Amino acid sequence: MSSALPPAVENPAQSIIDLERQYVLQNYTRYPLVVSRGKGSYLYDTEGRRYLDFLTGIGVNALGHAHPRILRVIREQAGLLIHSSNLYYHAYQGPLAKRLAEMSGLERVFFANTGTEGIEGAIKMIHAHGRGVSPEKYEIVALENSFHGRTIGSLSITGQEKYRQDFEPLMPGVKFVPPNDTAALEASFGENTAGMVLEMIQGEGGIQPMTHEFAARARALADQYNALLVADETQCGVGRPGTYFAYQRSSPVILPDVVVAAKPIACGLPLGFIAANAKAAAAIKPGGHGTTFGGGALACRVALEFLDILDELLPAIQRVGGYFHVTLNELARKHHVIKEVRGFGLMLGVELSVSGKQLVLDAIGEGLLLNCTHDTVLRFLPPYIVTEREVDQAVKILAKLLGKLKP
Ligand SMILES: Cc1ncc(COP(=O)(O)O)c(C=O)c1O
Repeated sequence: MSSALPPAVENPAQSIIDLERQYVLQNYTRYPLVVSRGKGSYLYDTEGRRYLDFLTGIGVNALGHAHPRILRVIREQAGLLIHSSNLYYHAYQGPLAKRLAEMSGLERVFFANTGTEGIEGAIKMIHAHGRGVSPEKYEIVALENSFHGRTIGSLSITGQEKYRQDFEPLMPGVKFVPPNDTAALEASFGENTAGMVLEMIQGEGGIQPMTHEFAARARALADQYNALLVADETQCGVGRPGTYFAYQRSSPVILPDVVVAAKPIACGLPLGFIAANAKAAAAIKPGGHGTTFGGGALACRVALEFLDILDELLPAIQRVGGYFHVTLNELARKHHVIKEVRGFGLMLGVELSVSGKQLVLDAIGEGLLLNCTHDTVLRFLPPYIVTEREVDQAVKILAKLLGKLKP
């Protein structure tokens, strides 16, 4: 008997929720919202209510929903070839790898499916690079407050106890350093350091940018100790900060040896990548790494189309992101519950002096989607197509809700 759809009942949203609660692993705390479709910067629920989407599937739907150019490419390519494995060539991996190499300033690309999978590959690069020097050279420097994913390797370099505690013991040899603490960074490096992994703007950690001084010191120490510097740009990369990558915001650019990114690159289709310089890429020998799904024809072709559109949108990301930042700062002057506004481009965080969890729920009721990291930081990852008018709309809702909060 087919069970593809829940039975028709009076409240279809509730029946969808109930069925999930019974059969889906209860690892997610979902918001009470059942979405059914999207268009531009808006999502719609099963009742047809409209929500301004300032979270975009946690930074994935960078062109909003149902972008006509992406739809056209998906339709055409789905009829030709979706997946063929990495046993054969297809027309889109090479051009996409070339494009990403040019954008990142690095040389070779590996295609994965998610940010976590990219990080796992980067950890393998670090270990293989270290082993090429000495069996003791496997230590990794990572940052407190960081987030790199949920597998054992990526959790091992994630500096937040709440994600790690149930899964210990994790991978040995990881040293955590407080972000932007240059003295602690210097003390953590040694001859056995094989690599360092950092987010130039910590996302899950509450939209915390690294200072130029700290990132430059990390680069210099990695060079001094022959370690690989890995930038995890899963959340802060591929256009979101107003540059292709967050490390390109620095002048001069602090070029890592390896970059990992994922979220927006294929507009909702799973695609991640590692871009590496020649030294890091050489650590992975033929047969040393692989994936069944990564780099499929459909995902790669969509990514190429996305990158064409991104080039047209970069100035708007800077302009509208700047406008949003200024508007949030104005809000902070009126609402003392706001402690700080942080971030760049369309990756912005508002730190409150109280928990933001209820505000996020109330915002859903008002037709605005955002979320809260670290309990007190409202996180905004709007689509790259967002307009000043939509920013005004979001800020109006926020002003109303902030007025109800007690500092
Ligand atoms: C910086 C960073 N790294 C890694 C990940 C994990 O990515 P994914 O969920 O695609 O595996 C995330 C997810 O939010 C992230 O923000």
